[in-house]
Amino acid sequence: MNRLELGVNIDHVATLRQARYAQMPGAHHVEPSLLEAVRACEAAGAAGITIHLREDRRHIQDADVKAIRAAVRTRLNLEIGNTEEIVAIACAARPDSVCLVPEHREEITTEGGLDVVGQEAAIAASTARLQREGIRVSLFIDPEAAQVAASARVGADMVELHTGGYANAQGAEREAELGRLLAAGAQAAGLGLQVNAGHGITVGNLGPLLAIPALQELNIGHHIISRALVLGLQGAVAEMLEAMGLPAVARS
Ligand code: PXP
Repeated sequence: MNRLELGVNIDHVATLRQARYAQMPGAHHVEPSLLEAVRACEAAGAAGITIHLREDRRHIQDADVKAIRAAVRTRLNLEIGNTEEIVAIACAARPDSVCLVPEHREEITTEGGLDVVGQEAAIAASTARLQREGIRVSLFIDPEAAQVAASARVGADMVELHTGGYANAQGAEREAELGRLLAAGAQAAGLGLQVNAGHGITVGNLGPLLAIPALQELNIGHHIISRALVLGLQGAVAEMLEAMGLPAVARS
């Protein structure tokens, strides 16, 4: 059995950088550094780094893709929408894998899964094109039997099951969502697809997801970056106090 692995989505490191420096990308003092984030995630044991080059470039920029590709020592997973422009960029960037996701300009984050059933020909074409470049292809889908079956038909290597419905639900509804994920995982594995999962996963809701059959990789972003602020803020304040010549105060 394969060991479960963690891919860390670092888009929100870029979100923070863009909030301050979008208009001065080359400035000498731009921070936070995505490359430092890559190094920190890999040093902590992440098996991969995920970034999403969105059509609107709201966080990750084209230059980031190149720099991160060169820096990643584990595996780089590039999330993209299935458009000619972005698929061409992905082919040139040569990440280890591409995850095709649906993309809508107004959304806050990726909302539903990819409609593989409804766009079979277009997704099959992009899948084959990426695979010709030696890139493994994952499809981010809702845990629905028809989408899993279509993912196998278009020749994808992997599916990433959308766990957002599970993460957002509570009680009986969450149990139902979990049941859909377990069934989709079993179906995908039976069809020879690698089974990954992602979206909205936290330390608190992770446990039941580990029962997804053949689960190989979790891609987690928002929660890890949010927790990094809490876990790291005390150290950052202490560092500034020290630079100011002031004592760090230990208060609980
Ligand atoms: N997987 C995919 C395909 C995504 O689009 C996202 C969000 O960018 C994630 C995983 C990570 O989700 P979250 O930030 O909620 O952990």
